[in-house]
Amino acid sequence: MGELPRHVAVIMDGNGRWAQKRLLPRSAGHAAGLKRMIALSEYLFRRGVEVVTLYALSQENLSRSEEELSALFALFRQYFAGSVERLAKNDLRLDVIGDTSLLPEDILSLIESGKERTKEGGRGTLVLAIAYGARQDIVSAVNRAVRAGKEVTEGEFSALLSTGAYPPPDLLVRTGKEKRLSNFLLFESAYAELYFSDKMFPDFSDADMERALGDYATRDRRYGKVKTQ
Ligand code: IPE
Ligand code: IPE
Ligand code: MG
Repeated sequence: MGELPRHVAVIMDGNGRWAQKRLLPRSAGHAAGLKRMIALSEYLFRRGVEVVTLYALSQENLSRSEEELSALFALFRQYFAGSVERLAKNDLRLDVIGDTSLLPEDILSLIESGKERTKEGGRGTLVLAIAYGARQDIVSAVNRAVRAGKEVTEGEFSALLSTGAYPPPDLLVRTGKEKRLSNFLLFESAYAELYFSDKMFPDFSDADMERALGDYATRDRRYGKVKTQ
């Protein structure tokens, strides 16, 4: 019973606390998180989800210590170098949203070549949010509209956002116990179903995601209307 979401978005939070609990450096938590991210996104595409958007790094996260950022950047390098071929083989497209000009240049070129290599992918799209901030994204969409010199409709405005090519998220999952959006997809999530898990992201298994999908299937999405029958 119930429907499968077309677009699942995940705030992958809790890597640092996962590591802390094991007396490991935060970077070990991010490495475990990356491993989980790869398997979890493959699981979602196998289940038939069309768009998977993963919050990997917020613009605000860029103010973390140099040590933590360099560990995160090393993992991004590892990911793009190792996973793009696999995405292409699985007929999946890679997209990246966020202000990538804030990232080291070599990562920027890995992103560009990854997008180019996977652009024919027709089975689904993996959207990674890196150096992403929803408020910043909204402001740059507003500025684009202003530069174009004409008022926009809601639909035209949505198309100006970095997620403009995708349907809005149906299900938004946040791991790591916090109940907030932390500047993720603020406009797009207006009618997303929210699901919060206390598990730290490296512990959030495929079975946990299956529970989130099952929960989603029981939700009654009314969009402000009164339920008929
Ligand atoms: C999420 O895990 C990943 C990033 C923000 C890069 P955190 O690093 O925020 O982990 P916690 O919240 O400190 O446990
Ligand atoms: C949100 O997590 C960003 C990502 C998971 C990439 P944070 O750990 O940065 O969020 P806050 O600081 O707890 O709100
Ligand atoms: Mg966190």
